[in-house]
Order: sequence, then structure tokens, then C-alpha cells
Amino acid sequence: MNNFIYEYPIKTFFGEGCVGQHLGSQLQNYGKTVLLAYGQGSIKKNGIYEEISSILKAAGKTIVDFAGIMPNPTYDKVQEGAALVRENHVDFILAVGGGSVIDCCKVVAAQAKTDQDIWEMEFSGHRYPDKWVPMGAVVTAAGTGSEMNSGAVITNESKMIKAGVFGAHADFAFLDTAYTLSLPAGQVLSGAFDTLSHAMETYLGTSDQDNVSDDVALAVMRNTVVNMRRLLVDVNDRQARSNLMWDAAMAENGILKCGRLTDFQAHQIEHQLGAYTDCNHGQGLAVIHPAYYRHIVGDALEKFTRFAKVVFEVDTAEAGVEALAAFIRECGLPVRLGELKSKVEITPEVLRKVADSCNIIGSNPRQLDKEEIYQILMECI
Ligand code: NZQ
Ligand code: ZN
Repeated sequence: MNNFIYEYPIKTFFGEGCVGQHLGSQLQNYGKTVLLAYGQGSIKKNGIYEEISSILKAAGKTIVDFAGIMPNPTYDKVQEGAALVRENHVDFILAVGGGSVIDCCKVVAAQAKTDQDIWEMEFSGHRYPDKWVPMGAVVTAAGTGSEMNSGAVITNESKMIKAGVFGAHADFAFLDTAYTLSLPAGQVLSGAFDTLSHAMETYLGTSDQDNVSDDVALAVMRNTVVNMRRLLVDVNDRQARSNLMWDAAMAENGILKCGRLTDFQAHQIEHQLGAYTDCNHGQGLAVIHPAYYRHIVGDALEKFTRFAKVVFEVDTAEAGVEALAAFIRECGLPVRLGELKSKVEITPEVLRKVADSCNIIGSNPRQLDKEEIYQILMECI
């Protein structure tokens, strides 16, 4: 294990009914004006908006609506939210949505507290926010685990970069499975695949085999696969949904990352693909992972072998990678770039730009270069 400091500041409420039972009392700890942030309309259709608004009103809050946060939230949307917070003297931000809404709010919360441009501060100045408007998160789409940490993924359209930006962490997070039931089946599975990816990318970041973080990561991977298979039988299996919701949280609450480096190269490739195509995050990962792992399997044979045995019950490293590819097909997730919903045609020229602008991770199993990232992408076309 490498040295680390572990502190966990996010109070987590889990289970059906937890929002109705506990949100009101949590809100008493904050001022009167609440920014209610959400996506592009799902919470208005499934009744969540009404339920949360009633809880806010009963707690005596004045609501400022921040609507229309898009999947793959943009930096412009962050600035819009920060302006709303300042203009309305917002005391507290309540993010109600999936990873996109929660990510956007984390950076809104930090941007509202500084006159400096957060993107420049982090990417040019290498400084990170230590002040923010307090926020809470109510999860309506599980998978990213965004509610569990202070990292956000934001698309800066003027720079054509989708990248990790640090912002606020939520003071509290609500994980109520019932709030996810209206999610389309495809999004449930792509979200769950994102969880699997987080655990795999964390696990592969160090060559040491015997640390407890790896053992927990393997358990999360195995449990995610088992419960995704249950959803293939019945997408409304509530136990499986709740198991996956906690898998998602476990993968990103920092426990798996204690004392070790992480990889996250597949994520870097997908994020930059997202900057150009606006594709769905979990689906993009499903396309990229097998191709990426075929390139690096020989660089981490022991780790891939253990992954193969524990997660897919096959004997060799290569068989494990192919079992992952077969599992992706079994779930009906996209396997080729052409199957992704994209705002541009995905051509070799676009993939060259994605590869050239992709962030490269220096840790295990092996550092790629831009040419190899281009090759990996071309193998997915
Ligand atoms: O916008 P609305 O209308 O709400 O619709 C959303 C959206 O279209 C819909 N949805 C959410 N909850 C619903 C629902 N539809 C019906 N019923 C519900 N209960 O689902 C669609 C996708 O939502 P989104 O929030 O974009 O999905 P997800 O949770 O997968 O988040 C993806 C974003 O998170 C980032 C990704 O890059 C991407 O931008 N990530 C954030 C991470 C983090 N902060 O730790 C880690 C991840 O690796 C990831 O990069
Ligand atoms: Zn992810």
C-alpha cells in the first residue's frame, strides 16, 4: 500500500423512501434559498420534481430552478448555474439527477464562490477550489458514483475538451432506488457498465496483487456483473437495482483507491470521444474497453488472470478480456463506434483528433502514446 489519508465527509442515505424520510431534516441545516438543479425533464414526468419541491416548501425554502442540465454537461452550463447562484444569493444547491446534474452542480458550487475562472485555475494554475456553496445530491440514475466524491466531468466546448474538474462534494447524498425506476433499460445497463469500468480501471492501476483495495474492487466487479445479469432477466428487479446502486457508490467513494495508483485510460479515451461526439458515457466505455484491454493484457498478465478467474470464471488473462467483450454483447451494449449516438459522423479524421487531444495516464499497466490510442479507436470503428 502507498501512503494515504482517508476522510469521508458525505452523509449517505440509502434505500427506498429515504428521501421522503430524511431530506426535510437535512435541509434544516442550511439557509432559506435553494437552487433546485435538474436535467432535461425526466423529473417533471416521473413525479420526483413535485415530491422534492413539496419537501423544500415544507422546510420553508425558497426555490430557484436551474433546469436543463444536459448529459455531458458543458462549461457554459456551469457558468449559467454559477450566475444564478450569485444573482439569487443561493444558500444551498440540491442536485437531483444522474452524474451529469451532480457533476455540473459540483463545479457551479465552487465557481459561484470565486471570481477566477475555475477551468483556468485548475488546468493552468494547478490550484483547486477549497470553498463552495454547500450542496446535496439526490441520485435518479445510478452508475457514475458522482454523488460520492468531488470530481466532475465537464465538456469545455470552446476548447473541445471533456475533462475532470474538481469542485464541491455533496454534504449528503440520497440513493433511493425507487427514483431510478423510470430510467430507460439501456441507460440502467450503461450506467452499471460505468461502475464495472470504474472498478476495473482502479484495479489495473497498480501491479501489486495482494492489497485489500484490489480484493474489494474484484468483489464490486463480480457483484456488478451478477446484478447486471439479473437485470437482463427483469429490468425492474428492485434488489438487483439497489445492489447496483451501492456497487456504483462503492466504486467511487474512494475505498477502492486507497493506497494505490489507478489507470482510467479507457475513461480518458471515452471522455475525449465524448467531447467530439457527445456520446453516452457508459456506452462509449463499452465500445472502448475490449479493444484497450487487448492492447495491454500482456503488460499485466497476473492481474488480468485474477480478474478472469474471479469476475468471469475463466482461466486465462486473454479469456477474461474476451469474456468481458462477450458480456458487453450479452447486455446489448454497443460494441462498435458506429452504434453510438453521435452528433458528428465518427470518421478516422475525427478519431485522429480524439487521439491527439486525449489525456495520457502514466501509471500501470503501460503508458500508451497518441498513435496507439488512435489504433485502439480505429479497431472500434
Ligand atoms: O436530463 P434528464 O431528462 O433527467 O434525463 C436523463 C439523461 O437523459 C436521464 N435520466 C436520469 N434519471 C432518470 C432519467 N430518465 C428517466 N428517469 C430517471 N430517473 O438519463 C440520461 C442520462 O443522464 P446522465 O446524468 O447524463 O447519466 P449518467 O449518470 O450516466 O452521467 C453521465 C455523466 O457523468 C460523467 C460522465 O462523463 C457523463 O458526463 N461521469 C462522472 C463521474 C464522476 N463525477 O465521478 C465519473 C464517471 O466516470 C463519468 O465520467
Ligand atoms: Zn465512468
